[in-house]
Amino acid sequence: MTAFQAWRVHEVADGQFEGRVDTQDTSDLPAGEVLIRVSHSSLNYKDALSASGSKAVTREYPHTPGIDAAGEVVESSSEAFPAGSTVIVTGYDLGMNTAGGFGEYIRVPSDWCIAMPSAWDARQSMIYGTAGLTAGLSVNKLLRMGLAPDQGPVAVTGATGAVGTIAVEILAGLGFDVVAISGKTDQADHLKSLGATDVVGRDRLEPGKKPLEKPAFAGALDTVGGEPLAELLKHIKPGGSVSCCGLVAGPKIPATVFPFILRGVNLLGVDSVEIPLSEKADVWSRLAGDWACPKTEASARDLGKSGLGDALGRFLKGDSVGSLVLDHSL
Ligand SMILES: NC(=O)c1ccc[n+]([C@@H]2O[C@H](COP(=O)([O-])OP(=O)(O)OC[C@H]3O[C@@H](n4cnc5c(N)ncnc54)[C@H](OP(=O)(O)O)[C@@H]3O)[C@@H](O)[C@H]2O)c1
Repeated sequence: MTAFQAWRVHEVADGQFEGRVDTQDTSDLPAGEVLIRVSHSSLNYKDALSASGSKAVTREYPHTPGIDAAGEVVESSSEAFPAGSTVIVTGYDLGMNTAGGFGEYIRVPSDWCIAMPSAWDARQSMIYGTAGLTAGLSVNKLLRMGLAPDQGPVAVTGATGAVGTIAVEILAGLGFDVVAISGKTDQADHLKSLGATDVVGRDRLEPGKKPLEKPAFAGALDTVGGEPLAELLKHIKPGGSVSCCGLVAGPKIPATVFPFILRGVNLLGVDSVEIPLSEKADVWSRLAGDWACPKTEASARDLGKSGLGDALGRFLKGDSVGSLVLDHSL
């Protein structure tokens, strides 16, 4: 048994939730084959939902959020991941209803673990985290539909977010003309430094009355959902594809069928949570290899447990920018 610190969320009054650092013991963790000493985690929109009491993400409190974790296996009954291995864990139930990476230890099933790519240490893997995995999976879906740079520009919505920034850098690295769509005018230079060829305001996707607009994009990687996604579909060239992974602008898509039946547009769903580990491993190895995002890595910011409350609050306001890494040693 080992005592450790965890940033846990408590329901302090009906409907009021508060995070604080608690001392826990590894015997408090759920059963599982692999006990991991977590050195780093990363911050995601879903963590902000869990920390704010969203019962769609977390049913019972107190709870330790953190849908991502990286660190060293310290106890194991798994042949694949013996003590001493370094691993990444993302998705499945981690940080939702299983104590997550905002604690210094997690205990999980071995089939939630991926071996750390040799090019990375734990911090580097958490610069990408679920956001990078999701950006990579989204890019994969678009490429599998045949999207290629010579077909025209590709739009990325929620461009300054954790998923958006990595998506911009991967697509630019693949040679696409990337149009970053963002609500943060002051981040245009940053988005261009990641490789965006053009930055346009979020107002470009204000709901309009027309069923279709002039086709402007060969494809799009959407991270926001809601009305902007419905509007985005109207701007896609015939046969183009749009990947959809998020809901910060809302879970409902008030769209018509016209982009689908008059232009053959494809809407592609992206799930990074429950997919087979082999699909995750494929994207992790690309992110650690030819899809690496050196500019995102250079601009990532580190924080300790005491900074989590403020940082998660910014996600809910749509104010967060880029990749945030939780370093348990800070
Ligand atoms: N499907 C999956 O497996 C999966 C995995 C990871 C994330 N997600 C989802 O993907 C979404 C993005 O995640 P993230 O971690 O990148 O979040 P994030 O860092 O908070 O980024 C979201 C970005 O969306 C924009 N935005 C915020 N509120 C908006 C609004 N009301 N209308 C339009 N745009 C808005 C902002 O960018 P700008 O200011 O630049 O516009 C914001 O930075 C979330 O919904 C998350 O739950 C899904």
